Amino acid sequence: MRVGLIGAGKIGQLRARTLREHPQVELAAVFDLDAELAAKAASKSGARVVRSLDEFLDVPMDAVVISTPVHVHEAACLAAFARGLHVLLEKPIANTAVGARKLVEAALAARRAFGVGFNLRYYPAFRCVRETLAQGRIGTLDHLRVYGGHEGLTKFAHEWEYKAPISGGGALWDVGIHMSDLARHFLGEITEVYGVATESVWNVPGSEDNALALLRSPAGVAASYQATWSEWKGYGIFVEAYGERGMVRGAYAPMSNLLVLQERAGAPRTTTKLRYPWIQVREKLFSWQTTALESFRLELDDFLLLCRGRRDLVIADGYAGLRACEIAEAVRTCTRTGERVTLPELGNMPA
Ligand SMILES: NC(=O)c1ccc[n+]([C@@H]2O[C@H](COP(=O)([O-])OP(=O)(O)OC[C@H]3O[C@@H](n4cnc5c(N)ncnc54)[C@H](O)[C@@H]3O)[C@@H](O)[C@H]2O)c1
Repeated sequence: MRVGLIGAGKIGQLRARTLREHPQVELAAVFDLDAELAAKAASKSGARVVRSLDEFLDVPMDAVVISTPVHVHEAACLAAFARGLHVLLEKPIANTAVGARKLVEAALAARRAFGVGFNLRYYPAFRCVRETLAQGRIGTLDHLRVYGGHEGLTKFAHEWEYKAPISGGGALWDVGIHMSDLARHFLGEITEVYGVATESVWNVPGSEDNALALLRSPAGVAASYQATWSEWKGYGIFVEAYGERGMVRGAYAPMSNLLVLQERAGAPRTTTKLRYPWIQVREKLFSWQTTALESFRLELDDFLLLCRGRRDLVIADGYAGLRACEIAEAVRTCTRTGERVTLPELGNMPA
């Protein structure tokens, strides 16, 4: 499969490495406004380094990975679908729900695969939560808690990452977009949102630094959600799932799981902890990027299958990308109106 890359910054360089090293992929072309970064991403792969989107689209290829700042996603993604390419697009797919819908409609019209870079789905701690739920080990799911936070503006390498006109908003659109996706991944769908967002810590107009919400599936299962840019303890994310026969927690960083099981409510409990020591050692020696890279590799494997028409995969599709943007917008709408927002069921994108 010939795959091109648009955007060769911090994440794009990791994406480029997964493309260069994948046995079924030929990195066809790289485009970045910064020619040096594009050349670095293409290094020793034989990929063409091009200077414009038009030149990029003239290179024969089957699919494209888009890893630019968010406000550039739309133009690149629409142009790729118009050329009949499959697309793997970073999160959040757009900086408004309207923009996200446009991309989904373009994918459907082009009948091409639309994968979305919600790579936390591949982190071992969250895979463990998914498998535990699928095996019914905690019984019927009663509710979820999802949380994602970090210390805010000092965490960012570039201004665009926290400026709402480019990024979409604040914590809801940054770490929160992953957490609402994980909530949907585990609940199956989210059709009701109530929440409150505030922007009184960092005071960046339009960029909330805290958001608290309740999300509900069509079956009425709820998830409590928090996204924050005032987590002074540092970066941390977790998902906890509760059922009548126990609970499972997946967390990062460090990568860990906690599993508490009982025969029925009130019966004796067994507790199991997973610590992933090899991941902790690897990150200490080589950085957190090794964990992201591993997730990008698994995501790429799934993306290739998605392009071949498979749909029973872990990879997020365009509907997941759209719903995550809709949830972020819904929390801000609730903050203004005090009313909950209902959303139609989406399911998975058709093959
Ligand atoms: N999945 C994750 O864990 C994760 C983490 C961080 C960022 N992201 C997402 O990845 C994407 C890239 O983030 P990043 O941190 O690598 O950003 P970055 O700023 O480091 O890199 C972006 C690159 O895009 C290039 N670029 C900008 N405009 C362009 C254009 N019009 N055409 C071609 N290239 C252009 C820039 O020159 C830059 O090299 C964003 O969508 C971001 O939200 C995902």
